[in-house]
Amino acid sequence: MARPYVVPNPIDRGAAEIGATLVNPIGKKLKTRVEVKYELLVFEEFFGNRNPVEMEIGCGKGKFLLDRAEENPGTNFIGIDRIGKWMKRRKDRAERNAMPNIRFMRAEARAFLTEAVPPGSLSIIHLYFPDPWPKRRHHTRRVMSGDFLRLLHSRLVPGGLLEIATDHVDYNEAMKKTIAAAAELWDNVRETRNERIVGGMNKTNYELKFEAEGKPLYYTELVKK
Ligand SMILES: C[S@@+](CC[C@H](N)C(=O)[O-])C[C@H]1O[C@@H](n2cnc3c(N)ncnc32)[C@H](O)[C@@H]1O
Repeated sequence: MARPYVVPNPIDRGAAEIGATLVNPIGKKLKTRVEVKYELLVFEEFFGNRNPVEMEIGCGKGKFLLDRAEENPGTNFIGIDRIGKWMKRRKDRAERNAMPNIRFMRAEARAFLTEAVPPGSLSIIHLYFPDPWPKRRHHTRRVMSGDFLRLLHSRLVPGGLLEIATDHVDYNEAMKKTIAAAAELWDNVRETRNERIVGGMNKTNYELKFEAEGKPLYYTELVKK
């Protein structure tokens, strides 16, 4: 069975994709049909230091994380997205600016967090504008669920932050219910509207687009017990 070739690029090295299996014949929608297993990361080796690690799930074009990594050289950053479309652009900017504190991976959030990210290892998880899947029959495709929230909680350090943003009022209400159902996990839950809680001046691409359209934006910050 053929295996996908993993480019040994310093920006997305590590989290070696092991046992990757092509589900479909080569050449047919390869990028969405590859099942990958990840090795558990040792952040100290991955980044070469013991600095705190933040992760963005669904980083898109990577603007937010690249800006944040430039502003915070004493922190390490991992951006993941299940779509590889913007990978070259993200990596080019990181390489151009010689940023040793950022890595991008094409990965599915649940699998990557479960297999590659050690429990109790992330200082902040950023989840900004996850796909809302507005049709009721598609709600099961939403990334946020009770299980996923527990997984995020398990990967944070005590006192670590989960930062969430959405433009979708129904998804926001659904996330509020999910959070309330596991309220005992969190020390504090703070909500704001049209005002980012962490890194307010540093926007994501979707945030800039939605702001320009005048949409109300919903922000939530959870502090891990
Ligand atoms: C609406 S875009 C938001 C992008 C970026 N966060 C922003 O605010 O500009 C959602 C992103 O999440 C990614 N995504 C969706 N589900 C994912 C998953 N399960 N694991 C990793 N990335 C995912 C999509 O590929 C897409 O790039």
